[in-house]
Amino acid sequence: MIDQIKDLKKEIESTEITDEDSLETFRLTYLSRKGKVQSMFGQMGKVPKENRAVVGKAMNEVKQLAESRFQDAKDTLNRREDQIFSATDDITLPVAPAYTGSLHPLTKTLNEMKQIFFRLGFDVADGPEIEDDFHNFTALNFPPDHPARDMQDTFFIYKSDDDSSEDLVMRTHTSPVQIRLMKDTPPPIRSVIPGRVFRNEAVTAKSYFQFNQMEGLFVDKKVTMGELIETLVMFAKMMYGTDVKYRVRPSFFPFTEPSIEMDVWWGSEFDGQWLEILGAGMVDPNVFESVGLDPEQYTGYAFGMGVDRIAMLRYGIDDIRTLYENDIRFLNQFSA
Ligand code: PHE
Repeated sequence: MIDQIKDLKKEIESTEITDEDSLETFRLTYLSRKGKVQSMFGQMGKVPKENRAVVGKAMNEVKQLAESRFQDAKDTLNRREDQIFSATDDITLPVAPAYTGSLHPLTKTLNEMKQIFFRLGFDVADGPEIEDDFHNFTALNFPPDHPARDMQDTFFIYKSDDDSSEDLVMRTHTSPVQIRLMKDTPPPIRSVIPGRVFRNEAVTAKSYFQFNQMEGLFVDKKVTMGELIETLVMFAKMMYGTDVKYRVRPSFFPFTEPSIEMDVWWGSEFDGQWLEILGAGMVDPNVFESVGLDPEQYTGYAFGMGVDRIAMLRYGIDDIRTLYENDIRFLNQFSA
């Protein structure tokens, strides 16, 4: 009996299965109800009792071998079938495009802005998004009762009862990095500082509780207002083309004196509006004093640009919220 089982095992091992037909023949020969494996089990009755355990084990092994050979061969054939083109496939068709990601419009705008300032001799710096009161307000010459220090306007991480110097805020502008730069590096300083800022604003098409700014700071001896305005005009022309329509207005910031704002015309010549893209001015002497620089020796200018505004103008986007919703239908429009 054992010899018979061994022969059957060899037979199963050496049977070739090359296609659907030989697979089916294999199944009928060995695994079907009248197949060789089943009839082998049918002879169990003839085996003397004391040998049954050994013989039964050998028979089960043969059965498992047949089943696994069948399954392996079937898997191999299926796989091969998947790879073969059917006669109706047009193999000359171009392959489907591979969709890759693309840069966010804000990132693209920021890259362009940085590139322009690289060409004008600026380097890039950054600073923390959580600031203390000193860097965000006090050192920038904000008086203690300035409305920006109100909870209505600013997100506080920590607010002490009396001593505001311990307060922590989500920075409301990138200007605190001016303070950090002036404290860390001796002039000349010529840097741009892009980053996210946060304000407790009602969300509308025009305002959002977070947005992006790019600060600029130039500190040296004999820096003038004329250089500031010339730099900003140069920026506007490089960003929007030499025929860009712009205007510069007087303004006020606690940390610059005098202060200005720049607007760019959005729309056609006859139908459009002025949009503010930046605030700027000459570094206030009080700011120099708060970082330990002598205002008699140094002068400087600073500007803060609204990256979102500039991106919206650049790409004709009319709702700031779309920049933060990550809607793929919106983002796909910038994949070129
Ligand atoms: N920090 C100002 C703002 O957020 C912009 C600004 C920066 C103005 C630098 C002047 C100089 O509105």
